[in-house]
Amino acid sequence: MIYLADTADIEALKKLYSFFPLEGVTTNPTILKQSGLKLSKAIAEVINIVGKGMIHVQVLSNRAEEMVAEAKKYKEYFDLGNNYYAKIPVSVEGYKAMQILKDAGINVTATAIFTQQQALVASRAGADFVAPYVSRLDNISSHGIEVVADIVTNTVEFDLPTRVLAASFKTVDQIHRVSMVGAHSATIGPDLLMQLVAHPMTDISITQFEVDGKDLYDI
Ligand code: E4P
Repeated sequence: MIYLADTADIEALKKLYSFFPLEGVTTNPTILKQSGLKLSKAIAEVINIVGKGMIHVQVLSNRAEEMVAEAKKYKEYFDLGNNYYAKIPVSVEGYKAMQILKDAGINVTATAIFTQQQALVASRAGADFVAPYVSRLDNISSHGIEVVADIVTNTVEFDLPTRVLAASFKTVDQIHRVSMVGAHSATIGPDLLMQLVAHPMTDISITQFEVDGKDLYDI
């Protein structure tokens, strides 16, 4: 499973990119709003940090023609080439837009997925990534991990090129479980990414090594 950062918090991204082996960034309108920046400034800052990584930018419109126009504009404006992914919700208009964008050679990430069938239809519409929302499913007493597992099974059994981008996490355990069911990728907020690499026993061990190693270096 590869990791992406689900944020446009520029300071948090700088810190994460200094050590975490991330493959890219995802945004949505809520994430952009939380960053306090307008879209063009936020994405430009993200690009400065991410370099050649993937950038998944969600469209703001809800109508297919407008989604397509928006996605095409972002690809050109930000000059991202093949690292750009147009993030499109799985509405009727969204499925229309996905097919038009794929025909135009633009990468697509289908988002706001809550069922295996939504993901399969998005795959057939050409989506490169499908993003099921784990925590939002768990919050409505559904089973986010099972939906992710079913989508992964489909990609294997139907030999689909689509990759599963598990999204919407609130706990480290959810991330652990999507990796165990074979999700190809996960997009995760900064706080949880930090929690993935932290363990008090690691801190205790490092402190002990530091104490014991203090007078050993002699080369
Ligand atoms: C990413 O593609 C999604 O937009 C995001 O993970 C949703 O997360 P949330 O449910 O925490 O808002």
